[in-house]
Amino acid sequence: MAKAAKSAKSARKPRNHLAEKILAKMGDAGPVVYDIEALANEFNVTPSKLRDAFEEAQQRGGTGSLSDFATVPDAYLDDAQAPRKQKITKIDSERFYSDTPLLFAGTADTHLGSEFALDNGKAKTGPTWDLYRMCEREGIPVVFHGGNWVDGHARFNQYEVKKIGVTAQIEMFINEYPYAKGVKTLFVGGDDHEGWWLQREGLDIVEYAAMKAAAGGRDDMVFLGYVEADIALIPGGKMIYNRYVASSKELQEIMQMSDEEKAKFQAENPGLDRPFPGGLQRTLDLSAHPNHAILRLKHGGGGTGYATSYQPQKIINGYESGEKAQIELLGHYHKASVDYLRNCWTVQLGTTEARTTFMNKKNIIPHVGTWMFKANQAPTGEINRFQHRFIPYHVRGFNFDPRAYGLRG
Ligand SMILES: [Fe+2]
Ligand SMILES: [Fe+2]
Repeated sequence: MAKAAKSAKSARKPRNHLAEKILAKMGDAGPVVYDIEALANEFNVTPSKLRDAFEEAQQRGGTGSLSDFATVPDAYLDDAQAPRKQKITKIDSERFYSDTPLLFAGTADTHLGSEFALDNGKAKTGPTWDLYRMCEREGIPVVFHGGNWVDGHARFNQYEVKKIGVTAQIEMFINEYPYAKGVKTLFVGGDDHEGWWLQREGLDIVEYAAMKAAAGGRDDMVFLGYVEADIALIPGGKMIYNRYVASSKELQEIMQMSDEEKAKFQAENPGLDRPFPGGLQRTLDLSAHPNHAILRLKHGGGGTGYATSYQPQKIINGYESGEKAQIELLGHYHKASVDYLRNCWTVQLGTTEARTTFMNKKNIIPHVGTWMFKANQAPTGEINRFQHRFIPYHVRGFNFDPRAYGLRG
């Protein structure tokens, strides 16, 4: 009924022959820019008539636009007529229902050994312990740690640490770092605090910690790199990363394998070519996984920015094109934030250390707490949703009693 009325109406409308000629000229040429003067001359009509007819041709489904003033130089004609096709990553909402939710948690700047660290490995209390318990309860299998596991020691913090020396502090770290059933922690080392031992003594502290963890049977503590490491997220929930050493269980398995089994194991576990002592393989072999996203775990450097987002912005702006990750988790600044910068979900992981004397002096505020994330990955690799939960920790409680807290207290 409506269709019949519509066709009757259009039948009443006088046919514009000029519009038909323009339509025929447009053909399948696509979004071409036509010069009004040239077209008016071609059809021998006035520019105003031509403009009206052109509009009608557009309404009837013709593609193209009219340029009032520009005659497109011949040299550009190709570009104007056939705009180069760009490869655009489209978010297809269909894939929202076939994607993989990746559950993970994040923390950094634990500074175990410091008087200001809030976790107590003996009592198993504190913000990091709480995080691991929540992970166990919610089935979150991985925690990313962005560095500064321990406070290290230097002249200026020597009266604020409970343990002196690399062995004492790393053993404390391995013995007292939180754990929970079914939860694995992936670490990078900072180039400050634990990193002072590398800077000052030339000891590869990440490898040392990895060896101590393997010796202590802490298979849940996995060490990926110094300052930063890339983790490839593969649709379906798999993660590929390189690491320093195999766990004691893996070592045992490797020792008992035949040569073929060993080769197969190494192919499936990049980075474990030389299982022990380590030696880090630095590039990820993603040849079998063209669809992936990169999560970069990093310990930043430099001081506190004027604004919370300033340092993450500088880090992301500093990457060359193609070098950025899709998710970047940052330790070091003792800040908590999430920003979407140049298509990269950029997170500052917070801290579980209270405000230190140094921070007091410099008027720096720590953001104390930990994170839980849910990132959805499409079968084509892209992260199409990213959800975050921050678990804040009020160091001094909601009502601050100065007599109950402080270096003297
Ligand atoms: Fe730190
Ligand atoms: Fe740091």
